[in-house]
Amino acid sequence: MTRMPYPGCYPTARPRRNRADAATRRMVAEARLGVDDLIWPIFLKDGGGAAEPVDSMPGVFRYGVDEAVAVAHRAAQLGLPAVVLFPCTPDGLKTDDGRESYNPDNLTCRTIRAIKAADPGLAVMTDIALDPYTTHGHDGVIRDGRIVNDESVEVLVRQALAQADAGADILAPSDMMDGRIGAIRRALEQANHAEIRLMAYAAKYASAFYGPFRDAVGSGGVLRGDKKTYQMDPANSEEAIRETALDIAEGADMVMVKPGLPYLDIVHRIKQAFAVPTAVYHVSGEFSMLHAAAERGWIDYDRGLMEVLLSFKRAGADMILTYGAPRAAELLASR
Ligand code: PBG
Repeated sequence: MTRMPYPGCYPTARPRRNRADAATRRMVAEARLGVDDLIWPIFLKDGGGAAEPVDSMPGVFRYGVDEAVAVAHRAAQLGLPAVVLFPCTPDGLKTDDGRESYNPDNLTCRTIRAIKAADPGLAVMTDIALDPYTTHGHDGVIRDGRIVNDESVEVLVRQALAQADAGADILAPSDMMDGRIGAIRRALEQANHAEIRLMAYAAKYASAFYGPFRDAVGSGGVLRGDKKTYQMDPANSEEAIRETALDIAEGADMVMVKPGLPYLDIVHRIKQAFAVPTAVYHVSGEFSMLHAAAERGWIDYDRGLMEVLLSFKRAGADMILTYGAPRAAELLASR
């Protein structure tokens, strides 16, 4: 909102008065970050045994089903409303068409059932895309060297139904195929899953900042080429409006912008334009950069994390997916 400048100038006006002490600063703070805003992404691995550290993401692990249940329980105890699951599929189960994605007993579906049995009040969110399941690391099916849209959507719908049947609360399609929100919404309605929420990765950019994530789910090493024919060009913001309008029209309940910090302008525009619940994904590369700088003693991790998360709220985000969620929840509780 643009307002006229206030009358009066120095020394009548001294903006520093409102910053004079902590109590006043608390009262005049415009944006607030709370534990309710945070969603914790968790990586899964097949088989039991100890959690495996993700080399490119300090403090982040891949968990087997039992451990994931314990981690989800910790999330609930910290007051986090939701976790989002990302599987690392064993190579032997990867195929060109990613059919493991809709196996009702795949790693994701087993974990959804186990978490919902243990902590029914915690929202379980899942990713809809084929990259953890394909031999080529793309989010869709390839024909003659092209990622084909409509055939990919058919597989994504089957994946969505498998996760819905397993008990997921929120499905988050991250694939960026055209028409997938509508196709998934129709399939959910027909399958008596009318209440399942869709959080559309509406404005997802072809970004350099997904590198550590691709390590974590094991899709980075196998990825052939790039994702520029389906993920958005970082040059564009009008297109983000169009993508988001389409996803809402097709049945998205919530929308997402991804990555976060380099796209705060997009978060702001989308929240202003549509006034729907808007999420932002503080992605793996953003998280790891902060850690890398902190390890060198260049940035204070806790302060850096909280400042970044607050910037998302100030830009207009309602929800934030961040690997820093458990730490942020601890810091918020100790304030
Ligand atoms: C899969 C997916 C990606 C991320 C979330 N879902 C990677 C990609 O599109 O290549 C990235 C998340 C992160 O970097 O933290 N479609």
